[in-house]
Amino acid sequence: MKEVNISELERRFQEKIDNDIRIEPKDWMPDEYRKTLIRQISQHAHSEVVGMLPEGNWITRAPNLRRKAVLLAKVQDEAGHGLYLYSAVETLGADREQTIDDLHSGKAKYSSIFNYPTLTWADMGAIGWLVDGAAIMNQVPLCRCSYGPYARAMVRVCKEESFHQRQGFEIMTTLAKGSPEQKAMAQDALNRFWWPALMMFGPNDADSKHTQQSMDWRIKRHTNDELRQMFVDATVPQAELIGLTVPDPDLKWNEETGHYEFGAINWDEFWEVVKGNGPCNKDRIDTRRKAKEEGLWVREAAMAHAEKRAKRKSA
Ligand code: 3HC
Repeated sequence: MKEVNISELERRFQEKIDNDIRIEPKDWMPDEYRKTLIRQISQHAHSEVVGMLPEGNWITRAPNLRRKAVLLAKVQDEAGHGLYLYSAVETLGADREQTIDDLHSGKAKYSSIFNYPTLTWADMGAIGWLVDGAAIMNQVPLCRCSYGPYARAMVRVCKEESFHQRQGFEIMTTLAKGSPEQKAMAQDALNRFWWPALMMFGPNDADSKHTQQSMDWRIKRHTNDELRQMFVDATVPQAELIGLTVPDPDLKWNEETGHYEFGAINWDEFWEVVKGNGPCNKDRIDTRRKAKEEGLWVREAAMAHAEKRAKRKSA
């Protein structure tokens, strides 16, 4: 077969990207494309799995059976999203055990938002409404990501995400229309989760080291700031609808641009949390490490069972 040089391979690759032809696992791809997808998809998977912890904390304390069943279903969905995404990252040649060890060692990141504590039941509403709302804003464009397995995983994830966002907003609506104490609890949760939710979209475009390349490779379809703006524009009217106040004195509607202007994000806080110095970082990783250790016997039993069945089949 005629040798094709790298620059020709890169040209053909970018031509596929520019023509919205999906890149599949067996296709040639630049090492850097593979690397940035392993980085992003693995950290996305870690975010889903660590994201189970703040909400899992409230399953036993849900106010009634319906709320408990809904929260259980949501947390189970997040586990499934994580497993989906770990499978997607394996299609790029990443080793799952190593990927998970990178989370436990602190080498890999996960979304900063999950390092904040969940102090009241209203936080379950704020997380569903704001965190899953932000996740949807970010994940819907990922359904058109140039890498096939990631885009297809996102289609399934987004269907479940919209249920997550709706159940969260319903909790906030119920509390906001409840007693003065319930409304105060909802407002407190909004106050604590609003700015960390804006940080989920990543640093400003000017400070984002990956965005331009990810846009050129059509991994990202919108920049961090574009998605953040879309989230603010969609969410502020929802807060107003239920009589809650977004904790930003600089928030104002700009008739000319058709967007909300909002205040400055505390990027020092963001980078401190990303670096591991958030309120719950240590607790989250300790819990994940403990889950891996305590689950070892289940994995060993499942492997032994699978090997026995394979032996029986081949006998
Ligand atoms: N938390 C932690 N780290 C973050 C971050 C955040 N909110 N935002 C950015 N970073 C990190 C990046 O990972 C990168 O570090 P790295 O090079 O070590 O990976 C660095 O900050 C620079 O940021 P960039 O904007 O240049 O990086 P990206 O181009 O990767 O953009 C992103 C960051 C927007 C999070 C992008 O990776 C992305 O879209 N990821 C997929 C979606 C995702 O992971 N969402 C997280 C939440 S999942 C969730 O909420 C589940 C829901 O069910 C609850």
